[in-house]
Amino acid sequence: MTDDPQQLRSVVAQRLGEKKLILVSNREPYVHDYVGGELKCTTPASGLVTALEPVMCACGGTWVAHGSGNADRELVDGENRIIVPPHAGNYCLKRVWLSKAEEEGYYYGFANQTLWPLCHLAHTRPRFDAVHWRTYKAVNWKFAQAVLQEAGSDPALVFVQDYHFALLPKMLKENRPDLLIAHFWHIPWPNREAFAICPWGNELLEGLLGNDLLGFQTQQHCNNFMRTVDGALENIVDYEQFAVLHRGHRTLVRPFPIGVDSEAISRYAQSPEAVAHTDRLKHELGLSGQMVGLGVDRIDYTKGIPERFLAIDRFLERHPEYQKKFTFLQIGPVSRININEYKALNDELYHLMVDINHKHGADRWTPIHMIKGNYPREALVAFFRLADVCIVSSVDDAMNLVAKEFVSARPDGNAALILSRFAGAAEELSEAVLVNPYDIDGFADAIKQALEMPQQEKERRMARMWQAVAENNTYKWATKIITEISRLA
Ligand code: G6P
Repeated sequence: MTDDPQQLRSVVAQRLGEKKLILVSNREPYVHDYVGGELKCTTPASGLVTALEPVMCACGGTWVAHGSGNADRELVDGENRIIVPPHAGNYCLKRVWLSKAEEEGYYYGFANQTLWPLCHLAHTRPRFDAVHWRTYKAVNWKFAQAVLQEAGSDPALVFVQDYHFALLPKMLKENRPDLLIAHFWHIPWPNREAFAICPWGNELLEGLLGNDLLGFQTQQHCNNFMRTVDGALENIVDYEQFAVLHRGHRTLVRPFPIGVDSEAISRYAQSPEAVAHTDRLKHELGLSGQMVGLGVDRIDYTKGIPERFLAIDRFLERHPEYQKKFTFLQIGPVSRININEYKALNDELYHLMVDINHKHGADRWTPIHMIKGNYPREALVAFFRLADVCIVSSVDDAMNLVAKEFVSARPDGNAALILSRFAGAAEELSEAVLVNPYDIDGFADAIKQALEMPQQEKERRMARMWQAVAENNTYKWATKIITEISRLA
């Protein structure tokens, strides 16, 4: 099976033939902003972008996404297009503009205050607001129009991403029944009872059943979706083929666990630049001689960051000999900050950090450092290389690509990964030190186990995880989806 960009490109050429490839996501892969009067181009902190950017670089085509940067409009042509990546020019990014009210209702509202908490078992209540719902519908239609415009009258494969666009597949199919439509749902699909509280559940399901192929990260999420649909609408749910027949249209439901471009990350991690960057960071952050723990997450309530801090607190209570010897770096770009739950989480983390640092700190040493901000991928690799242990402690996560990026960045094998059992990645990375993030005592023990793991054991576990990540990289993921959908053409 294909696992490099050249092979993926040839599979796409062979399987899609004349068909255009149009990818749709809310988040754009390149954001242009003026920062202090200077034009800056950044890649956002997003698992979706991490996985799909190398795929689009390999395949070409058009990526339709929300233009969210304050300089985005200045750089596009008359059709709102720009060729990216900035210095390579592999594919076309078509930006869709949203008003503040649209962003409020669709992105901050329905996508992130309704669907995000509805789909994650994080004990945050979803909000059901009719204005948000109406705006979500209107914005889905706006994106549908942009996609239809890009397709023109040509045959095309439309590859829809995530929970921002549950209604888009049906809108596209109604207008262009000949389009091939695949959709990947990057987040969990909840069980039927949890989904049933959504007042607009049936419309969401009907929207998704406009797809020819609907992919989830795990078999469990596929099962949840099938059971949700079963009985909710007039359907034929075929558990043998894992397909749903709705109003004469068939949707295949399949698991496609997503990956990263592991080879490129490993290659860069072993480069002289990465080594020099790591040394520089170590020096700047005063980490020489320290054992380093690392967390890299958007600040989100699904990521289990408070539990992580509490486990570090418990670990230091029980093992004061680690005082002045162990430092934990939490890298965390601020995310979705207009939403109250996210504001509250940022405050909570700050207070926890201050209390824990006050309790255990000695001389100039404090155990937890929070570094806010969004780092380019190269810098993240340097952070990964610094770490003796990386902690991914999501309370619910469909996959989690930080775990896979960390493993890819450590071909040396001299590190350990602590991973939540509730992250989809735990299925493939069973050699990690697995934790239940809610069990603070067990979590504290896991930190000790990881820090004291014998060298040989670390290398053995890392080598197995490295193999698993390399075998299921992002090119293979895309190939599987494209192969499956092209069979339906
Ligand atoms: C998750 C979602 C993505 C999203 C990313 C970052 O991984 O599945 O769709 O892009 O979080 O969130 P944001 O809201 O900043 O795009």
